[in-house]
Amino acid sequence: MKRACILLFLSVLLAIRSFSQGIDNDNFVVTHGPWLQNLGTSGVTIIWTTNKPAVPGVMLTMPDGKTRFIRNSHDGIVDGGGTLHKVRIEGLVPSTSYKYSLTSVQILKYQAYKIYYGDTLRGKQISFTTMPLQSEKVTFTVFNDVHELSGKMASYLKHNDISAQDFYIFNGDMMDWLQEPEEMYLAFIDTASYYFAGTKPFFYVRGNHETRGYAARELKKWFDYRDDRFYYSFTYGPCHFIILDCGEDKPDKDKAYYSLADYDAYRLKELEWLKEEVESIPFNRAKFRIVIVHQPILKAENQNHAMTFLSEHYGPVLKEAKVDLMISAHIHRNAYYEKDKTGYDYPLLVNSNNSFVEVVADLSHIKAVVKDVDGKIIAEYEIKK
Ligand SMILES: [Fe+2]
Repeated sequence: MKRACILLFLSVLLAIRSFSQGIDNDNFVVTHGPWLQNLGTSGVTIIWTTNKPAVPGVMLTMPDGKTRFIRNSHDGIVDGGGTLHKVRIEGLVPSTSYKYSLTSVQILKYQAYKIYYGDTLRGKQISFTTMPLQSEKVTFTVFNDVHELSGKMASYLKHNDISAQDFYIFNGDMMDWLQEPEEMYLAFIDTASYYFAGTKPFFYVRGNHETRGYAARELKKWFDYRDDRFYYSFTYGPCHFIILDCGEDKPDKDKAYYSLADYDAYRLKELEWLKEEVESIPFNRAKFRIVIVHQPILKAENQNHAMTFLSEHYGPVLKEAKVDLMISAHIHRNAYYEKDKTGYDYPLLVNSNNSFVEVVADLSHIKAVVKDVDGKIIAEYEIKK
């Protein structure tokens, strides 16, 4: 009788433990993403978040059906223990489609000699394609100045030919400021992930608003930048892209920054990089050179401090380098400056806060189509070599 009572007691305890673990595991979920970053010819970074600490991994399926499980480590320690997960995959083949699924192993307890794992989440299989070494065409879409109104983005994306895009560009001011990480998910990451970001990469260009708020200091945490800089370049098909970081709009000493702005020095450092970049072989070999920058760079009167600074310092370098097109944002209206109207011999397309730019470039021309939130064409531009 006594033995039966003990067994019953143990059974109840086990049932309660299983039940409570079940509840805990049921609550372990992927909260945001995935979104692809830093896609190249041989690698990609996949980012997502979970609501509880986890060890992230990615199950990769090659075109021949073979699989590879990838976890990253730093300084001998396998990445994990947080809720923002970033897995870099290297050793891929150019122009190749891979399937992948996320794996998140919950960590219930993390101590020196005691680590308890909880449930394992396995995501559905989706795919991405690595960049080509050579291609005669590139197709991409540009967003900017959405300022957290992600509904506009969602409305437009219903009309965007996602499967035709090689990548997307967010050209700044996707949010008003960044105080809490949650703001960024609501502003655009959740919408991007819902529509395309798990299968098509995006490049995030910093505008002037992304510099504001405490979490702006940690902006790079949510992305993966080549060389860990906000300014960089890459080649895709016939185009070489230069991504510039324009910095804040007002002078560093403006009271709005409370003595915490140092953008002129930063922009001068970036300028040194730009001078080297325009001398590089990829830049000079490209059929077309496209500059993406949030604040437009043109010669004009009565511009804000940043635009005046960029015009005076960057304009002549870009003129000398013979840029084929600049795509900008910031002024919240659509504008197009022919190459003889910018002061620096390149045409400038400025996209508004209520429109989106679809670009296709091949060996003979660049075609840029500006569309509204319903996918209706507002304007079309063609740039020939
Ligand atoms: Fe802006």
